This record gives sequence, structure tokens and C-alpha cells, in this order.
Amino acid sequence: MKIFIDCDPGVDDSIAILFALFRKDVEIVGISTSVGNVSASKGAENAMRILKLAGYEGKIPVCAGAEKPLRGECEDFPTFIHGVNGTGNVELPATSQRPMDMDVSDFMYQKACDHAGELVLISLGRMTNLANTLARYPDYAGKIKRVVAMGGTVYASGNVSPVVEANIGGDPEAADIAMQADWDMTLVGLDVTTVTHLTRADVDKLLRCCNPAKKDAVSFISKALQHYMNGSRIQNYTMEYSPLHDPLAMVVAVDPSVVTTRKMVTRVECGGTYCRGKIVVDLREQPIKGRFVEHCLEVNSRKALNELFAAFQN
Ligand code: RIB
Ligand code: CA
Repeated sequence: MKIFIDCDPGVDDSIAILFALFRKDVEIVGISTSVGNVSASKGAENAMRILKLAGYEGKIPVCAGAEKPLRGECEDFPTFIHGVNGTGNVELPATSQRPMDMDVSDFMYQKACDHAGELVLISLGRMTNLANTLARYPDYAGKIKRVVAMGGTVYASGNVSPVVEANIGGDPEAADIAMQADWDMTLVGLDVTTVTHLTRADVDKLLRCCNPAKKDAVSFISKALQHYMNGSRIQNYTMEYSPLHDPLAMVVAVDPSVVTTRKMVTRVECGGTYCRGKIVVDLREQPIKGRFVEHCLEVNSRKALNELFAAFQN
């Protein structure tokens, strides 16, 4: 499966990227970043350091994208979860790889054209880059096979407001544009990511039984999760685990059987205070004007976690 990753690394983005790199059936053709957990430029630097950690230095092009949402400015970065540097305050070795010297929409479109009809777009951050690319290239959506995005919540509580998830809340206008585009989109939201628990015990076990060639990557994950899990404890009062956001989206992309889904007419609320960024689904016979988006509502968490860990053991 060929994938393109748009992300904001990010501790959980980094784990998702490592998982994809280590899956023999996945080929990453490009990575782009937007502001979110860190600035887009710092996220690109983090992505390139992750590539180096996994033995892919310079082998996958990385491009920095939007430094602000479509409307307004950025708030403070969530350093209590992702650290000041985005990788849980773990300093990864520097890389000689440089980000692509081109506009991110041109980069995303070029990759979509190179692999037209076969590229799965994985969105792990705000959808600003997606929206900008759709605006510049009206035929972009038609070149993408499907989109799997970590974002939103239908029934679970939000994580940046009572009803809003961070990736959607960070740029609601962009998310609504991306959801109304003419492509198949699956949203892996808090309904499934918050009930899939990454535990310290599981990570400790993985450290002991991982493939020796992947030990550096697993050691990084273990260290970065110390800060990330502490942030989760502050945010959610979870003691020994964190929710599995971006890595679960990546697992769903390679194995959709781990989730149960429902397609629903969907819009994103772009007004309000507490509801700005809320996913609105309409189940009525005569719904509002909106496209069908596939929402993950239930998950076989153990199976998903086993798939995640297997990539680091094989
Ligand atoms: O709400 C979780 C999402 O917000 C994840 O993608 C995480 O990396 C942050 O961007
Ligand atoms: Ca992310």
C-alpha cells in the first residue's frame, strides 16, 4: 500500500510514522507537516529525524506546510503532552536531510499525480494542507484512493473542548473543506482512540522482545512516552496509559477490520465557542447538505495494539 502522510510530529505521530516504516506492506511516498503539536518547520525536522532513526534518512521526501490555520492564528503548543520539541523532550540525533524546497500543495499534488488512483492519504494533524491543496488543484481529490484521518469525535467527549477534538478544533474550516471533497474519507476519532490504551507495561514488554534492528526506535518510543503519558495523566487522570490516537489511525489504514464504522452525512461546526470544531452528523431522513464520511465507532483494541506491536517485533 502506498501512503502519503500529512502530520504534526508529535509523539503519537512519530510512533505512527515508525509503524508505517516498519510495515513491509507499506511504502511512504512523502510526508508533509502543518502547525499543530509544534510548528510545521519543527514537525518536518522531527519527521526527518524519525526517518533517520529508522534507517530511512534521505529516502523519503519531507515538506513543511501551513504554519497557521485558514482562519486566525495559532494558540500555544501543547508542550505538556508532546514536550517543547514535539518528541516528548527526547532529543533525536540531527539529520543531514533537508526539507523539500517547494510549496506543500505542489508537493502533495505531485505525489498524488505520481501515484494517481493508488495513494492512501493519511492525515494525522490539522487538515490545513489538505484544504489548501484541494483549493489549488480541483482534481486532487480524484487522484487519491482514500483518506484515513485521525480526528474528531461523534459520541465521546472532546479533548480541547467538551465536544471537540484537537485536529479538527485546530482548523475547523479546513476540516470541513476536506470532508466535503469528492473522496472516500474515514475518520478515526476519539470514539475509538480513547478506548485503545497504550500501557507502560506493554511498552516495557515490547522493549524486551522487539527486533534488535528496531531497538533504537522502541527505546525512543519508550522515552518519549514518559512525557506523553504524564501529559495524558494531567489531561485525563489516566495513570499508566495514554490513548492511542495517530498510531491507531495508521493501523486502521492497513487493517480496517479492527474497527466498526458507519457512514454518516457530516459537517464541521465552524461557529460558536465550545462547539467550534465539533463534528456534526445528521442521521435524519432529510439531512443537511453534506458528504458521507465514514466514522469509526467501535474498535477491537487488543487486535489493533497487537498489529502495532508486531511491526516492531518482526
Ligand atoms: O487529538 C489527538 C490528535 O491531536 C493527535 O493527532 C495528536 O498528535 C494531536 O495532533
Ligand atoms: Ca498528530
